[in-house]
Amino acid sequence: MRAGGKTSRAALLLAAFFALAAFSTGQTQDATKDKAPQSPPSNVHPLTPATSAAPADAQTAGSSKYVGAETCKTCHEKIYEGWEKTPHWKTTLDTKGGPSHQGCEGCHGPGADHVAGGGDVSKIFTFKNASTKEINSRCMTCHVGGTQHMNAINSLHTQNNVSCISCHSPHDAKTKEFLLVKPEPELCYTCHIQQKSQFEMPFHHRVNEGLVKCSDCHNPHGTVAAKQVRTSATQDAICFTCHTDKQGPFVFEHEPVKIEGCQSCHIPHGGANVHMLRVSDVNLLCLQCHTNSPANAKTGAAPGTPSFHSQQTFFKSCTLCHSQIHGSNFDQTFFK
Ligand code: HEC
Ligand code: HEC
Ligand code: HEC
Ligand code: HEC
Ligand code: HEC
Ligand code: HEC
Ligand code: HEC
Ligand code: HEC
Ligand code: HEC
Ligand code: HEC
Repeated sequence: MRAGGKTSRAALLLAAFFALAAFSTGQTQDATKDKAPQSPPSNVHPLTPATSAAPADAQTAGSSKYVGAETCKTCHEKIYEGWEKTPHWKTTLDTKGGPSHQGCEGCHGPGADHVAGGGDVSKIFTFKNASTKEINSRCMTCHVGGTQHMNAINSLHTQNNVSCISCHSPHDAKTKEFLLVKPEPELCYTCHIQQKSQFEMPFHHRVNEGLVKCSDCHNPHGTVAAKQVRTSATQDAICFTCHTDKQGPFVFEHEPVKIEGCQSCHIPHGGANVHMLRVSDVNLLCLQCHTNSPANAKTGAAPGTPSFHSQQTFFKSCTLCHSQIHGSNFDQTFFK
């Protein structure tokens, strides 16, 4: 329900930018010695001395350490064939970043010593015992920036050692899209068990039924907002992306909708009350702010209910009369 395509394209553009930046600051030798046949000369950054006699330093040595995915395939054929069907295969075609950003070695690092050692496992990067920081920084050599990932470095998940591969599996994904280790919401419930019961309440967003996803409202890669809650493209409440009729702008706004936010009246996951309201009786909800006796009302706060609003009978159903409770273009008291 979001413009996912746009986000990922932006992310990719940024990734490409960073790849280029890396290229111009040290990957040049790698690129020129890469035997990848697709590598056109135009990929050589004009400002870097690609063909000049560079000293035989670490960089030059490093360049020969990449062997290319086809070599890995000779011994890891099954893994290669699975991997070939994932989006990461595309990195073999993208020569901009040089061999360090391509194929198996884009994630596992240079493989020459591993190959020379007949598969010496101490000579290749494995994710097995790597720290969250190490893992994430590997993935983020390509997946940095963009609205989707710009907060990943310091997200709550990262801080709590939930790494990229807690949720994603490049070789063993269980979903068609996004290489997830499990589909949503099960993925999230492996750790957030408490939320499961909230979505089983009588009135809830249909997450367990597959209609709405956790990631529609949350960005598991982190956000600037609290609780990793997303904001809409216009930096408004994420709720408006689906509940567009509540956004307005209205001639007569009901202040809490825009100021305190939807959560001041609704529980976003689900609850026992109709419309996922925080309070079982609507009048009690309203009276939290619109105090019954105007004498108690704080100055500058919500106006009290008029004295003719006897709380005995039908005045209890506030929204029977004040039906346009999210805002109105016609009536200051939200009758229509
Ligand atoms: C996008 C990053 C990425 C790429 C590209 C990648 N791998 Fe991996 N590889 C991983 C991760 C992460 C693991 C750890 C296990 C997991 O989470 O799936 C792994 C694990 C492995 C393992 C250990 C066995 C296992 O399944 O746990 C082997 C062998 C391996 N990769 C080989 C390869 C080969 C060969 C290629 C190229 C065909 C490749 N990898 C491409 C990220 C990657
Ligand atoms: C000459 C054969 C050979 C080639 C070529 C080869 N490997 Fe391996 N690789 C092995 C063997 C053997 C193992 C150990 C197998 C095992 O433990 O299951 C291994 C293990 C691995 C592991 C897992 C290490 C671990 O601790 O479990 C990774 C990751 C890996 N290889 C990646 C690569 C990558 C990336 C390439 C290409 C750059 C590559 N391999 C090329 C033979 C090879
Ligand atoms: C060498 C660059 C590179 C590295 C390193 C890399 N990726 Fe990717 N990743 C890509 C590219 C390119 C795509 C494809 C983007 C596209 O198709 O728009 C991609 C796509 C993805 C996708 C989206 C898959 C989909 O179905 O849309 C996920 C998830 C992902 N990568 C996770 C990871 C994780 C986790 C790691 C670290 C283990 C990682 N990547 C490391 C380049 C990389
Ligand atoms: C808590 C689980 C979780 C963690 C941790 C996580 N992801 Fe994701 N990721 C997801 C889910 C779910 C999606 C698909 C829904 C979405 O787009 O938010 C996704 C989507 C993606 C995509 C494709 C969508 C896009 O717009 O780019 C990429 C690439 C990706 N993740 C990379 C990463 C990287 C890199 C890390 C580590 C820094 C990471 N993820 C950490 C759950 C996670
Ligand atoms: C591997 C375990 C794990 C997985 C899987 C996981 N999370 Fe988390 N998540 C955590 C931990 C640990 C924290 C930080 C501690 C806490 O506040 O619960 C956290 C924090 C959060 C927070 C912020 C909570 C707060 O109080 O601010 C949200 C929101 C969240 N996760 C959503 C998700 C979503 C959505 C998914 C699925 C796409 C997901 N998580 C998958 C472990 C996980
Ligand atoms: C309709 C939007 C929406 C959906 C769908 C959603 N969340 Fe939330 N979630 C929120 C909002 C908004 C908050 C912040 C609540 C607050 O600040 O009072 C939140 C808070 C949280 C928190 C912080 C603890 C708490 O309860 O306040 C966690 C953890 C969390 N959500 C996990 C999940 C998981 C896991 C899923 C999917 C199973 C999910 N959310 C689906 C909107 C949503
Ligand atoms: C001042 C309290 C309050 C705030 C703030 C509020 N709502 Fe409501 N909302 C209600 C009440 C009360 C009802 C039940 C209306 C009725 O009984 O007819 C309701 C009903 C709904 C409904 C179901 C009926 C309908 O009109 O479609 C949706 C959806 C909804 N609200 C979404 C939102 C969203 C999204 C926000 C934030 C933009 C929000 N609400 C903010 C009080 C509030
Ligand atoms: C991805 C789209 C999406 C997002 C984002 C979203 N909702 Fe919803 N919401 C729905 C759908 C679809 C329904 C209808 C549920 C059903 O019929 O099961 C719904 C129903 C509701 C209802 C109950 C309506 C009723 O008639 O009882 C309320 C209240 C509500 N949402 C509030 C919110 C709030 C508050 C947020 C932001 C925290 C939010 N929604 C974000 C899709 C969304
Ligand atoms: C979180 C506090 C809060 C809740 C809950 C709340 N309101 Fe309000 N309401 C306000 C504030 C603040 C104003 C704006 C006062 C102003 O503009 O001076 C307002 C304005 C109004 C007005 C217009 C008053 C006028 O003359 O401009 C009506 C009518 C109203 N609310 C009815 C309700 C009803 C009915 C409910 C319950 C469904 C409700 N409110 C729930 C805070 C709240
Ligand atoms: C039978 C219809 C009806 C019901 C039910 C009702 N109201 Fe009213 N309400 C009115 C009328 C009529 C006015 C006066 C409108 C005017 O002055 O133009 C009003 C005005 C208000 C105002 C504005 C006061 C001001 O000073 O601007 C508030 C606040 C309000 N109602 C809150 C509530 C609350 C809270 C409930 C539920 C406890 C409720 N109303 C139930 C008919 C109703």
